[in-house]
Amino acid sequence: MPSFFIETFGCQMNVADSDLVADLLLRRGCRMAGDRAAADLLIVNTCSVREHAEQRARARLREFAAAKRKAGNAQRIWVIGCMAERLKEKLMDEIPGIDQVIGAMEIEYMDRHIDRLLSHEKRPAAMPAPGARGRASVFVPIMRGCDNFCAYCVVPQVRGREHSVPPDRIEEEIRKHLENGAREVTLLGQNVNSYRADGCDFPDLLRRLHGLDGLLRIRFMTSHPKDCSEKLVRAMAELPRVCRHIHLPVQSGSTRVLAAMNRRYTRDDYLRLIDRIRNAVPGCDITTDAMVGFPGETDGDYQKTMDLFRTVCFTSAFMFAYSPRPGTKAAEVAETVRPLEIKQRLSELIALQTAITKEHYAAMVGREVDILISGRQRAGRRLWLGQDHGAKNAIIACSNEISGTILKARVKSTTGMTLVCERMPA
Ligand code: SAH
Ligand code: SF4
Ligand code: F3S
Repeated sequence: MPSFFIETFGCQMNVADSDLVADLLLRRGCRMAGDRAAADLLIVNTCSVREHAEQRARARLREFAAAKRKAGNAQRIWVIGCMAERLKEKLMDEIPGIDQVIGAMEIEYMDRHIDRLLSHEKRPAAMPAPGARGRASVFVPIMRGCDNFCAYCVVPQVRGREHSVPPDRIEEEIRKHLENGAREVTLLGQNVNSYRADGCDFPDLLRRLHGLDGLLRIRFMTSHPKDCSEKLVRAMAELPRVCRHIHLPVQSGSTRVLAAMNRRYTRDDYLRLIDRIRNAVPGCDITTDAMVGFPGETDGDYQKTMDLFRTVCFTSAFMFAYSPRPGTKAAEVAETVRPLEIKQRLSELIALQTAITKEHYAAMVGREVDILISGRQRAGRRLWLGQDHGAKNAIIACSNEISGTILKARVKSTTGMTLVCERMPA
């Protein structure tokens, strides 16, 4: 059976999908190659959300194809994920050397694809399930697809309609991860708040998973502000193992732009929601996504985004320049913002948020925190990486700790975007 190497672009959903593909290949007797030159099978898991994400995947595929030719064409190259779904066979014409293109909507049938594609390989009689991969924190998709059709977004096109995984199957998957040493799960979906299966909604699912033995922390993402219910906020307030963090992409601070984006909430709706969360879950880290340069965004609209950022004080944010995606509604709008203007708006917004993030971290100095250790920091042998119960990253000096333990610590200083912690006696 071939050895394989997977390179992943895009969001956590793609990371989870790559893990799934790796798992399927390992179960069939394939080996994970140490590096890409040694692999018989190269898999690139792609993202289409912005033009830049596609350019990076293309560059990598060209590199892989050139290396394959140089080495005598023995390697195989598969492209999977969202760009594979969007461009399909066109990718094979564009970049000769690609052997298979398997789109994101096929991911749930990946076992069949792999069996078909590897059918001529000699297979060991029976492979045991792969052993513990030893990760403290794992991603678990609870729903796939999206029905929201935000005007700028390619995801509904490449991931298809929304569908939820039944709670029994989610529980079973998490139990397996816990047996393999996981202590934290992040439940994934484009909009976890519209999760519904077997009569169970998202807050019900949180309550159900909260009781699992050995599961120390539960995270989730992403929450669409229009569907963030009272019931969810109450569940977050009442369930101590649910992390005090909510990722709530605002996209813009201008009600006019939000309407054009088809986000279906106003600036005031969003601000009221933030108040509700902060009242019910004190100290909750709130993070967001926002973009600048949406078609027709005026300077006044953009100033409303800056103002909203100052008002809310997000713990951190992902900020993007609008990128037109073929096939979306926004891509048809003629009235665009000049690229230089977009660049300026973005760098100003990033500068503002960077200062706010630093303040959030600085305010933690001297405080007691619980750090879930996720792995060793490469540079320093005694330094371990982790996260607090919210959304803040931490490093902590200690010897021989293992991933998955929660340590009581005190924050000594920060490096701006990392808490530097010292272990406290248990
Ligand atoms: N389902 C999530 C977002 C998934 S995409 C949600 O609704 O919040 C992640 C982020 O990429 C989005 O929140 C948005 O800020 C950004 N994004 C999506 N399409 C984009 C585009 N065409 N140009 C720039 N940024 C985009
Ligand atoms: Fe895209 Fe909107 Fe769906 Fe998020 S909710 S994936 S931004 S269409
Ligand atoms: Fe994720 Fe990119 Fe697809 S953000 S869902 S990998 S388009």
